[in-house]
Amino acid sequence: MLWEAQVEALAGEMNTMALDLPGHGRSGGKGEDSVAAYASAVEGFLFSLAVPRPIPCGLSLGGAIVLHLLLEGRREYEAAILVNTGARLRVLPLIFETIQRDYQAYIAGTRSMSVSPRTDPRSIEPLLESMAACPPEVTLGDFRACDAFDVMERLGEITVPVLVLSASDDRLTPPKYGAYLAEHIAGSRLVQVEDAGHLSPMERPDRVTQAIREFVLSLPSR
Ligand code: COA
Repeated sequence: MLWEAQVEALAGEMNTMALDLPGHGRSGGKGEDSVAAYASAVEGFLFSLAVPRPIPCGLSLGGAIVLHLLLEGRREYEAAILVNTGARLRVLPLIFETIQRDYQAYIAGTRSMSVSPRTDPRSIEPLLESMAACPPEVTLGDFRACDAFDVMERLGEITVPVLVLSASDDRLTPPKYGAYLAEHIAGSRLVQVEDAGHLSPMERPDRVTQAIREFVLSLPSR
């Protein structure tokens, strides 16, 4: 759902695929509470498809999973796309408290925290509905995975081309996090999406799609 616009817009130009993590959306199984465990599930999915040299793309926790794949993965990636994420993803204690105390209040808070003041909140309603359907313990596991994630000192090990997307009004993973990634990953490209928050692929779909298109078409294999 988060990537629907990009998957559809780019489908005629490249193979695009979006997956729900274990325990989320239409995927079965149970949620995890570490980035390594989610990355292992994603890599298993990629092995099952036998896709040659994929380009993983992820937002927030998804971006942490992509970083883990680049650093610890067992296969070759042509490039990677990191969207609204960071090399460390410490989580506000209030987020954990709210999920445990009142899940609906957490979902309501997400509506205001996750988008730019310039975004029509209706654009993310379908995603909020799917988040509300995700069991609180799975959401807690996701945030625990983020909170423990830290590869600040390891970014120099990444050698594939990387596109870093940040969003001007992102309060959960602020542009500073994207700038750090771009500064420490050699040869990476940083694009800031203006007037967008943490959910920029849904808030400004065309700009995010265009940045991905330009990056992929610039790769040596194209
Ligand atoms: N990239 C670059 N810099 C980062 C970073 C990243 N991924 N993560 C943290 N830093 C910086 C911080 O900006 C801070 O810099 P400063 O000392 O110049 O202000 C420093 O590293 C330490 O930050 P942090 O490790 O996050 O600890 P903290 O105790 O200062 O803050 C929080 C803890 C939870 C308050 C803070 O991380 C935060 O506001 N997080 C964003 C909100 C959130 O919960 N997001 C969800 C992410 S999934």
